[in-house]
Amino acid sequence: METTAGNSRLMDWGRALLEELGANDFRAGQSTSNNIGVMLQPASYSERGSHQEFAAVLDKFSFRDDVRRMDLARVWAFILNVKKAVARTDGAIAELGVYRGHSSALLSHYAEQYARTMYLIDTFTGFSDEQLERGQTEDVKEAFRDTSLDSARETVGDYFNNRWIIGRFPDCVTEDLENERFCFVSIDTDLYAPIMDGLKFFYPRLNDGGVILVHDYSSELWPGATDAVDDFCNEMGLTPVLLPDFGGSAVLTRLPRSAQPESGRKRRKSSSLDRIAALKSELATVQAYADERGKLWERLDREGVALSEAQALAAERAQKMDALQATVTEVQALAAQRTRQIDELQNALDDAQELAIRRVREINRLQTALDNVQSTIITRTTQLHRTQTALEEAQRLAADRAVELGKVYAALETAQKLAIERWEEIEGLRKLTKAED
Ligand SMILES: C[S@@+](CC[C@H](N)C(=O)[O-])C[C@H]1O[C@@H](n2cnc3c(N)ncnc32)[C@H](O)[C@@H]1O
Repeated sequence: METTAGNSRLMDWGRALLEELGANDFRAGQSTSNNIGVMLQPASYSERGSHQEFAAVLDKFSFRDDVRRMDLARVWAFILNVKKAVARTDGAIAELGVYRGHSSALLSHYAEQYARTMYLIDTFTGFSDEQLERGQTEDVKEAFRDTSLDSARETVGDYFNNRWIIGRFPDCVTEDLENERFCFVSIDTDLYAPIMDGLKFFYPRLNDGGVILVHDYSSELWPGATDAVDDFCNEMGLTPVLLPDFGGSAVLTRLPRSAQPESGRKRRKSSSLDRIAALKSELATVQAYADERGKLWERLDREGVALSEAQALAAERAQKMDALQATVTEVQALAAQRTRQIDELQNALDDAQELAIRRVREINRLQTALDNVQSTIITRTTQLHRTQTALEEAQRLAADRAVELGKVYAALETAQKLAIERWEEIEGLRKLTKAED
């Protein structure tokens, strides 16, 4: 796996690359970029339209971690080898060293697609202290602790045949795993012991035509990975095929039995041939030791160059920091100005609120007065109605009295007429009496 410093360099490079390419250039199916002249993926995908699941698989492989998108060689190594292994042979898929689940997510995708069982093996708490190898720094102790079973599950997804095996390998091996056969295994545990244990466990359980991919063989960041693969291959008479992904993976395949080298199947009886083989092996060890020394010298040279590069980078970063500091100061001044404006606005808002409260109080007073006037109007209206009714009653009574008065007048007139008639009769009688006298 890459270191943190390596990570950030890779990020810068990746951003520059993606800018050059115009964001999703390679996802749109280009094998090459006209701008920078790189080949990104096999023609079977870009020109022939095979592996249409690539974009989905790449998304899983780089879930919430864009740096991983840049290791296209690794993604394609998985895609091409898993699909071939599944086509060639039966058996489950497994990953030893899951961490946050990115490469496992890709493998689980194919396990689901081809209905294979998927084993995911990790402590999910990083390395344990006793696992660490001689000369390893504090950084290594802390590496890969920032994960959990839940977050790995979130990345990998919930294919029903994902079998999570939690704990330190090989102590955590379950009966299922013990009795399983495999078509494809990814080993990515960085250290000598778990890689060697992984190879010893999985290689005998690999079906003919199966593939084991060991990460970090050529990275030179994890020498234990290189040593474990070399020791295992020497012992088994195998030759790893090396891939140019970021970790520099090594591929081990299992040939059909008939095609396996003699040394991988049975040990010959002791003979001079054995002696020669032993001498050859010693020679190879001495050669490997010499190579190792040579590599160390090369590394020292490289690191000298890397140091001056790092110094130049640091100077550049310092300049950028100054520029950033100036921007921060500007932003702070702007923030202070905005704070003042906000205070002023807040004061104005407070005044407006006070005014509003006063107005509301006045409105309440007016409302109360209005209510009083309304209730007075209602009382007066009721009284008016009553007066109106009494008036109508009086009018009706007056009309009745007028009728009665008319009747009295008529009676009076009749009585007057009668009285006049009587008077005239009496006068007539008086005159008659006088005349008789
Ligand atoms: C480099 S990370 C795996 C990264 C992952 N394959 C990916 O590419 O997304 C290495 C992982 O190996 C695990 N590991 C190392 N030794 C182990 C052991 N003996 N048993 C179980 N897990 C181990 C660590 O916990 C860590 O999560």
